[in-house]
Amino acid sequence: MAYDTIMVFRDRFKNHILPEKIHILNVAFLVPDMRREFGGCAGNIACSLAMLDGDPLIMATIGIDATPYMERLAKLGLDASHVRRVEDTYTAQAFITTDLDDNQITAFHPGAMNSSHLNGVADAADIGLGIVAPDGRDGMVKHAREFAQAGIPFVFDPGQGLPMFDGADLLGFIDQAAYVTVNDYEGQLLGSRTGHSLDALAKRVRALIVTRGAEGSIIHTGGRQLEIPSVKPEAVVDPTGCGDAYRAGLLYGIARGMDWEVTGRLASLIGAIKIACRGGQNHRFDRAEIEARYKEAFGAAPW
Ligand SMILES: Nc1ncnc2c1ncn2[C@@H]1O[C@H](COP(=O)(O)OP(=O)(O)OP(=O)(O)O)[C@@H](O)[C@H]1O
Ligand SMILES: [Mg+2]
Repeated sequence: MAYDTIMVFRDRFKNHILPEKIHILNVAFLVPDMRREFGGCAGNIACSLAMLDGDPLIMATIGIDATPYMERLAKLGLDASHVRRVEDTYTAQAFITTDLDDNQITAFHPGAMNSSHLNGVADAADIGLGIVAPDGRDGMVKHAREFAQAGIPFVFDPGQGLPMFDGADLLGFIDQAAYVTVNDYEGQLLGSRTGHSLDALAKRVRALIVTRGAEGSIIHTGGRQLEIPSVKPEAVVDPTGCGDAYRAGLLYGIARGMDWEVTGRLASLIGAIKIACRGGQNHRFDRAEIEARYKEAFGAAPW
């Protein structure tokens, strides 16, 4: 769980960062526009999954600045019993400054996220399906092992955490996981770090899913590659969290035993709905709306 603070510098960084002065870089940007979003993979995925009437249980860590996020979870009716507050830390947070050329300077503070290993999968009862999404390194390793030991199938979603792991670590995750999901770039990195093609990696799991932004996604399963089209969004406002929105659809489809074509299309639709809103969890939908939009895009109902 994380906060994202987004600030807009109404000028261009290149007018202020002078290459010949870079050895004494000391710049301050005046940023009159600022907004704060609730984010982090766990919060984002749970938010979309709840709107699908799924049954998400967030397991994450949060810091001394937890109150606004905890109030929000309560308001959304999301179970926070496995959201652990870690004293003397701040919640993970990104400070993103954007300029008029859409360049970004980001600082990311992991904070409480680095204590995620304090949580254990066995703390929660009646779990049918899990996801290990980007988190503290030790927590990701521990939770994957705990899911495997408990016989609970899980999705390995390395995301921005991928660079923390070498090829052997990644193969260790994949061999414990039932499913793997990455975006295009992460898929390439996964291939080069492990020294295996995505097709070869896909044979080690039930399915390996690669998302490709506006180009849709590919589901490698049972020796086949299913091409899942993207859905035309009402507007392209902010791609932040599209990956997490897609994962909500994926988890829902897997948990309900839906076939891969439908699961992929549902996930794709949630990604397209998300992109029309700013932030990772400000989009709103319900099952009736999903059903109607799915029918409109694909000509049949998803359920
Ligand atoms: N411009 C778009 N138009 C339609 N659908 C989109 C668009 N961008 C993303 N999506 C949907 O969302 C899915 C996930 O997006 P993407 O591949 O960009 O994930 P990501 O790079 O992990 O994103 P992030 O980590 O920023 O949340 C895509 O497979 C697609 O279905
Ligand atoms: Mg992503």
